[in-house]
Amino acid sequence: MSFGFGNDFRITVFGESHGKCVGVVVEGCPAGLLISEEELQQELDKRKPGTGLSSARQETDAAIIMSGIMDRKTNGGPIAIMVMNKDADPSWYGRNRAIPRPGHADYTAYVKYAGFNDWRGGGFFSGRMTAAIVMAGAIAKTLLRNKGIKVMAHLVQLGKVQAKEELTDEQIEVAAPKSLVWCASAEESSLMIGELEKARAESDSLGGIVECRVLGLPVGIGEPIFNSVESIISHGIFSIPAVKGIEFGSGFRLAGMRGSEANDEFALEGRKIVTKTNRCGGILGGITDGMPVILRVAFKPTPSIGKGQRSVDMMELQEAQIRVDGRHDPCIAVRAVPVVEAMVASCLADLMIRAQKIARIDGEGKREDNCKGMSKAEDKREYKGEAESRKSSKNDGDNLEPRRK
Ligand SMILES: Cc1cc2nc3c(=O)[nH]c(=O)nc-3n(C[C@H](O)[C@H](O)[C@H](O)COP(=O)(O)O)c2cc1C
Repeated sequence: MSFGFGNDFRITVFGESHGKCVGVVVEGCPAGLLISEEELQQELDKRKPGTGLSSARQETDAAIIMSGIMDRKTNGGPIAIMVMNKDADPSWYGRNRAIPRPGHADYTAYVKYAGFNDWRGGGFFSGRMTAAIVMAGAIAKTLLRNKGIKVMAHLVQLGKVQAKEELTDEQIEVAAPKSLVWCASAEESSLMIGELEKARAESDSLGGIVECRVLGLPVGIGEPIFNSVESIISHGIFSIPAVKGIEFGSGFRLAGMRGSEANDEFALEGRKIVTKTNRCGGILGGITDGMPVILRVAFKPTPSIGKGQRSVDMMELQEAQIRVDGRHDPCIAVRAVPVVEAMVASCLADLMIRAQKIARIDGEGKREDNCKGMSKAEDKREYKGEAESRKSSKNDGDNLEPRRK
């Protein structure tokens, strides 16, 4: 059983919704990557609860970097980052432990772990775990940005309200962050907010669809058959709770088209081979074709709702009613926009490293810069200092080599 995902850029999550913290360990990130703590925090802030349209749980979600980053640069080791749980209140779950919430993982977790599961807010099945994905994604996005790759997600459907389809990448990039629900078309954004408020007033919830676009990917990323771009991204995306569907490009609509309508014809833009349309979503044979990778992710409505529903008391083995109180998101898809972005970025960072498009040392050519300021004399002093401290140290396992050859 593993809580990790990925090969060359591997993320492992830990924590629980109402435990001490939620965190991530990232392995495989190249050394020397400049990490901006401000940007990391901005990514977390996009996801954190507490706005009018999300759960009322108040978490600051301040990132604590535990390891793997020194002088703002990655050191090649595991990067561990976490956020503390400061506003956990498991009281409702304690009172209703025996009655699983319909649509949530309470029942399956109880059976799988023979009652040892953390029942407080779904334990590690909680949407709170996605803070870990966002932290890993912030690092992946930095890696990709250094290669001129941009990952951007926005909400294209909430309940039955659909965003306008014909928006350009630039329009989406500017407009989506201004909308409370990450919807880039202003009129539909207001309609979505209205729907959401209505559902909340009726103690109910709504589903939605998040679209993600990746711009600037080179041709040739992805491996044939089992590690295609679609399979890796789908694996990652289905690790986000409440995801029930994914499609690439024109997706399910392709099934109703003819080949002449579905095929993306090739053309030349100067010396660059492009396609005139992008119904395949930038992927052919599981490999990127150089056009934007486009995917859409369907989220089900939030399971925890205030409306009365039928369930079963697992202790008494009798049917019961449940009405979920407390702090829940009226629409998961809204909260999940930065999560989708982060997960797609992590998957692509993994595939980029595997394709050797991202080197093991970031900014390989600038390697000498890392040692700037270390004159030979300083070097010697440092070495001597280390040797002295080694002599006096009882810990003989670490730091046995001088830092430079
Ligand atoms: C960002 C995010 C926030 C979520 N918030 C809630 C919530 O407030 N209440 C709830 O019941 N489920 C919430 N979920 C969904 C549950 O975690 C999820 O439905 C549950 O674990 C069962 O998994 P499944 O839907 O994938 O089968 C959230 C999911 C995400 C991604």
